Amino acid sequence: MLEIIKLSKAFGAKKILDETSLTVSDHEIVSVIGMSGTGKSVLLKSIIGLLAPDDGQIILDGQDITDYSEQQYNQHVRPIMSMVFQEGALWDSMTVGQNIDLALKIQKHLSEEERSGRIEQSLEMVGLPPIQDQYPEELSGGMIKRVAIARAIATQPKYLLYDEPTTGLDPVLSNMINDLIVDLNNRLGTTSLIISHDISGVERISDRIGMLYEGKIIHSCSAKELWQQDHEIFNQFIHGKAKIK
Ligand SMILES: Nc1ncnc2c1ncn2[C@@H]1O[C@H](COP(=O)(O)OP(=O)(O)OP(=O)(O)O)[C@@H](O)[C@H]1O
Ligand SMILES: [Mg+2]
Repeated sequence: MLEIIKLSKAFGAKKILDETSLTVSDHEIVSVIGMSGTGKSVLLKSIIGLLAPDDGQIILDGQDITDYSEQQYNQHVRPIMSMVFQEGALWDSMTVGQNIDLALKIQKHLSEEERSGRIEQSLEMVGLPPIQDQYPEELSGGMIKRVAIARAIATQPKYLLYDEPTTGLDPVLSNMINDLIVDLNNRLGTTSLIISHDISGVERISDRIGMLYEGKIIHSCSAKELWQQDHEIFNQFIHGKAKIK
């Protein structure tokens, strides 16, 4: 279980997360929606230890990891938690295979042969041909996105954080990635936290959906009841109304 308790983060005078609280239970798929620039990526980066929160707690499987050092994150968190970065965040100087292998090397028990099998398998799972030997600059935006997903799932982590996994993908690929997220939850018991702007996609695959607004999760509901909510800002957002406030 992942518990975010009153997490706060400011950049200078700009408060981004303001006592954000959110719980993701084991095997759950929870999506967070919200306007551009509200801090959704900041939230995920804080959970995986790339940004240090100013206040609040992050509890993972009952352990308070908020103040973990980089070394503790590498030892205890990153082996069981992967993140799909919004912009892919692949290393340009490395091939696709080397990028994925870098993540796999965290799992010390895997042999070179097993790692190479995992690379091939994860590329296949995101619908890519064996492009291990290509460099990111040779790929399209949608391919980079899928390599980033392949890298995150290759380690078969217990927790997956997806930052806009389907943005920039065509509808067929978006469906395929959404199905993959559900499949990983069903088959491997993954617990997923997703950031997405694709409302119909999150409705289809999530258990719960929460909205981040002005630093807080102002409302959350089960995906089944998405369209029956009695919350003005939430409703305006999911209906794509321009003016909130
Ligand atoms: N490292 C940083 N230093 C300073 N400001 C930052 C940093 N990272 C994010 N911010 C600021 O925090 C705010 C939230 O950014 P974030 O990337 O989390 O938004 P978002 O909700 O993910 O938006 P989008 O939907 O466009 O991806 C923005 O105003 C951004 O400029
Ligand atoms: Mg973002």
